[in-house]
Amino acid sequence: MPTLTVLPHVDICPQGATIDAVPGVSICRTLLDHHVEIEHACELSCACTTCHVIVRKGFDSLEPSDDNEDDLLDKAWGLAPQSRLSCQALVGTADLTIEIPRYTINHAKEA
Ligand code: FES
Repeated sequence: MPTLTVLPHVDICPQGATIDAVPGVSICRTLLDHHVEIEHACELSCACTTCHVIVRKGFDSLEPSDDNEDDLLDKAWGLAPQSRLSCQALVGTADLTIEIPRYTINHAKEA
């Protein structure tokens, strides 16, 4: 069973988290099922970007993003080469380490 490591996020997950993940389940669903309350404004339907994460370890083990995800990611706050929408990236067999960016697109708009 792959391990999903969540780096500390000051609001969402101050201590970080280590989760036994299930292959084939999205990173977002995995986080929510383990009480890591990442934003997910469109309810995991690839329409909002608020579930943006940066995959610090294991990025290459994920299935590549599609054009729709890439278009949305372009709007993400703090976009990085290893950025993914966590509702679209499915856990594979490799361990993953993710960072939840400090802000979402919603925060950026408010600011
Ligand atoms: S929850 Fe909206 S794009 Fe992932």
